[in-house]
Amino acid sequence: MNRNLDNNTHSDQPFSILKHLKQSTAEHHRIAEQGNLAKYIIDHSITEDQYIELLKKNYSTYLLVENYLFVHKNLLPTDLQSMINFEKSGALQKDLLALSVASNSVTKTTFEMPVTLGALLGSAYVIEGSMLGGLLISKHLSSCKNLNTITTHHFFGGQPKSHTARWKKFCNIVEGITLPSKEIDASVHAAAQVFEKFY
Ligand code: HEM
Repeated sequence: MNRNLDNNTHSDQPFSILKHLKQSTAEHHRIAEQGNLAKYIIDHSITEDQYIELLKKNYSTYLLVENYLFVHKNLLPTDLQSMINFEKSGALQKDLLALSVASNSVTKTTFEMPVTLGALLGSAYVIEGSMLGGLLISKHLSSCKNLNTITTHHFFGGQPKSHTARWKKFCNIVEGITLPSKEIDASVHAAAQVFEKFY
């Protein structure tokens, strides 16, 4: 059965997988936001050690998810395949190197993620969507006095135009995909699993 169609019984709105993901993972976002060290960028109190810890945590998690997407990208539609790269972990690697932390010293993390289209989409949703929060966070970096010796922030530095354009492109592609019910559920489970890696 296709929930893209059968979910619309009481509504004129077409079913949106992205809205469904956003609603179903709202609590995960709240917890991730509360627990994430980036909150100390927003209140400007972050220390260099906390910043390094945040970069390390993000590096291992983004690399894990980017690698999972890369290895299985043949399951994705071609236009989405071309968006799969190591941009986020690459930017984090540069930030760590600038602080004299070799990325190969960062503890690797693993997950048991099913390999299905739904799981790939749910995982990609979390790492792409997370860049929206990054835009807000980037505005506070220059007020963090403990980070004022760092000249360039590759990951959190914020490129509002390219992040926004990338997110729009991602949303347009994903909304064009029709998923069976089982895969919609798989996408929510995968998104939740990825959020939990950021806690
Ligand atoms: C201090 C930490 C964080 C802040 C302040 C923050 C803030 C935000 C903001 C302002 C948005 C855009 C809201 C909207 O348009 O509705 C957003 C969206 C999002 N964030 Fe965060 N975020 C944080 C941490 C995270 C983390 C750790 C993750 C997971 C990696 C994450 C994943 C997402 C996702 C998936 C979206 C897209 C929501 C959607 O429109 O579907 N965020 N965040």
